[in-house]
Amino acid sequence: MKNPAFIKKLNEQFKDSPANEILKYVINKFKNEICFASSFGAEDQVITEMIASIDKTIEIFTLDTGRLFQETYDLYDRTRSRYKINIKIIFPDNEKVEEMVNNYGANLFYKSIENRKICCHVRKIAPLKKAIQGKKFWITGLRSEQSNTRIDNKLFEYDDINNLIKINPLINWSEKDVWGYIKEKDIPYNLLHDKGFNSIGCMPCTRAVKPGEDSRAGRWWWENQGKKECGLHIKF
Ligand code: ADX
Ligand code: SF4
Repeated sequence: MKNPAFIKKLNEQFKDSPANEILKYVINKFKNEICFASSFGAEDQVITEMIASIDKTIEIFTLDTGRLFQETYDLYDRTRSRYKINIKIIFPDNEKVEEMVNNYGANLFYKSIENRKICCHVRKIAPLKKAIQGKKFWITGLRSEQSNTRIDNKLFEYDDINNLIKINPLINWSEKDVWGYIKEKDIPYNLLHDKGFNSIGCMPCTRAVKPGEDSRAGRWWWENQGKKECGLHIKF
């Protein structure tokens, strides 16, 4: 739904609105056309809490790459029972995973950036396409501050690759805002955050960050810093 005037209007209308007001509006207006992608990151947990307090039937999905941390699976269960919501698990195509691992090995991602992108494609990008099928909007937990690749992301933006509108209700939140909200509402979070993990993805591709390091320094840490994205949020 490429409609720049509509997106511009939404951005203007909600530029100073609190995140839960934005979510309330879009959920009430576009309920069946909306989905929320959660990786159970701190931002996603904030959004889940807001969505659950507005409408528990909104589609929430997570892409289970098959290589996640045990702590992330624990949080999946804790979140479901805390909010009494369903979180749809989307798995990669098992034949594609078998083919990839048979061809390149189980830990192909460490061997080259090309291999890493193949793995992210099979385990995340292709499943995302399945998850958002039939939807016109997807809500994400992106924040501008997270990385220099995200500085230009907007509250509402057109996603050319997937042909839908992305809604980033926390785009202008700081890390402090996120953690303040989590503590205030006693929201369940990934216990790895207490062990120095900041941004959390797949287990083999995520490490804890050292004091003073960039918040995404622990993702694909063996690659050059600066432009690291798995492809879910790449803009061309
Ligand atoms: S990533 O592209 O580097 O993996 P990041 O972990 O920062 O993204 O998460 C940014 C947003 O992308 C999350 O708030 C969430 O909306 C979405 N996202 C990332 N990983 C997943 C996942 N495995 N399942 C569902 N949504 C995800
Ligand atoms: Fe594969 Fe690592 Fe990408 Fe996960 S983050 S899909 S394990 S390359």
